[in-house]
Amino acid sequence: MVVAIDGPAGAGKSTVARAVAGALGFTYLDSGAMYRVVALAALERGLEPGEVAPRLRIDLGERILVDGRDVTDAIRTPEVSEAASQAAAEPLVREAMVGEQRRLLSEGDWVAEGRDIGTVVAPGAEVKVFLTADPAERAKRRAAELGADPSTVLAEQAIRDERDRNRAHSPLEAADGAVVLDTTDLTLEQVVERVVDLVRAA
Ligand code: CDP
Repeated sequence: MVVAIDGPAGAGKSTVARAVAGALGFTYLDSGAMYRVVALAALERGLEPGEVAPRLRIDLGERILVDGRDVTDAIRTPEVSEAASQAAAEPLVREAMVGEQRRLLSEGDWVAEGRDIGTVVAPGAEVKVFLTADPAERAKRRAAELGADPSTVLAEQAIRDERDRNRAHSPLEAADGAVVLDTTDLTLEQVVERVVDLVRAA
């Protein structure tokens, strides 16, 4: 079974997806980490993201490895966030990542989070959730996570949101049949409970 959780940055996807996977004994897939790995590798090698994407061996577990090297922390910098958002708009990058994501999701039980899981990667997912929240609230959460300034995070987030929503390939949008959950005024526990209920009902 596949549970698809999509939505913009800071809506709570990662925390919710991890908790739901833990509660149900499913495996968690962080598709955004894959775009971050591609962006980091391209920056380091001075190459186009579309060139490096098909050649990387990405291991997603407790730690994130690229060709055997631990990049768990290196992919979370603001520089990589911006580069990942740009790399994710490139068709060659998406083709390589979506292929790998479909291969992973073809067997077993998964909670997969991203921007296009319910629309493109796994349109047949049994449960689809689109998490949203007020932009200021999303920036506040992300700033707390990073120990950064909320107004800087809000400005950077707006640029990436805009790019994700308006790109030609796989723009961010709620999938057909997705349950839209606005998490602005909900606690993490409430959101997790809602999603777990949806999975049990399916
Ligand atoms: O949560 P945050 O926006 O910081 O990023 P993320 O989920 O780690 O994803 C990094 C970038 O990859 C995002 O800015 C998206 O543009 C892109 N992405 C995507 O295009 N498709 C996905 N399935 C997941 C992420």
